[in-house]
Amino acid sequence: MIVGLAGGTGSGKSSIVRSLVERVGGCVIDLESYTLDRGDDEPAAIDTELLVAHLDDLRRGEAIRKPVYSAETRLRTGIQLVAPARLVLVEFNPHFCRLLRERYPTATVIQGDAYGLRHLLTTLVQKPAAAVVSGLPLFTKPLHLRLRLLYEAFALMMPGAPFIQFTYAAVSPIPKSHGSVKAQASERIWTNFPPARVWVYRKH
Ligand SMILES: C[S@@+](CC[C@H](N)C(=O)[O-])C[C@H]1O[C@@H](n2cnc3c(N)ncnc32)[C@H](O)[C@@H]1O
Repeated sequence: MIVGLAGGTGSGKSSIVRSLVERVGGCVIDLESYTLDRGDDEPAAIDTELLVAHLDDLRRGEAIRKPVYSAETRLRTGIQLVAPARLVLVEFNPHFCRLLRERYPTATVIQGDAYGLRHLLTTLVQKPAAAVVSGLPLFTKPLHLRLRLLYEAFALMMPGAPFIQFTYAAVSPIPKSHGSVKAQASERIWTNFPPARVWVYRKH
C-alpha cells in the first residue's frame, strides 16, 4: 500500500510520517531526496520522472535505488536501496510490538490476536505469502483453534508454502496425520534452552 502525504515546507509532514512509521512500519519516500543537483525549493527542481518510476517499481514489489540528497551541499550524495518489505509480524504484546518496530523498521507490525489471522491480514497480504513462521504457544489453545489458524494461514499463502512452527513440546502441536496436512519435524535441538524442535506443515 502506498500512502501519499502533501503539504507545504514546515507544515509537519515529517512528524506525521515518523509517527505513522512508528505505528505501522513501512519505508519513506520523501520528495526532497529527488531534488536535482543545485535545485531550489520549487517543483521544477524535483526529478519527478524518477520519483514516479520508483513509485511504480515499489508498487510492483521491486526494490529501488533512492537518491540521497544533501541539503547542505545541495548535491546528490549517494544511493539508498529501498526494498518493499513483505514481512508482516503479528504479536499480541504491545511492548514487544514497539521493540519489533524499532528493530525491523521496514516490516509491518500488527498488534493483535494471531488466531484471527484472516481478519487481521486479508487486506494487507495482497500477494500470497511465501511462508508463515510461528512462535505461538499453540498448546495453550484447543485443537480446533490451532487447526483453524493453520488453515487460515494456508489460505493466505501460495500453494505448497510452509507453516513453520517452533515448539518446546515433545509432540507435534498439529496431529501428524491430520486430514490434508503433511507434517515434517526437525531433530530436537538440545543446545537450545529449553530444547526445541521445528515443525513444518504443508497442505497436500
Ligand atoms: C513463546 S513466545 C515466543 C517469542 C518469540 N516469537 C520468539 O521466538 O522469541 C510467544 C510469543 O507469542 C505471543 N503470543 C501469544 N499468543 C498470541 C496470540 N494469540 N496472538 C499474537 N501473539 C501471541 C506472545 O506475546 C509471545 O511474544
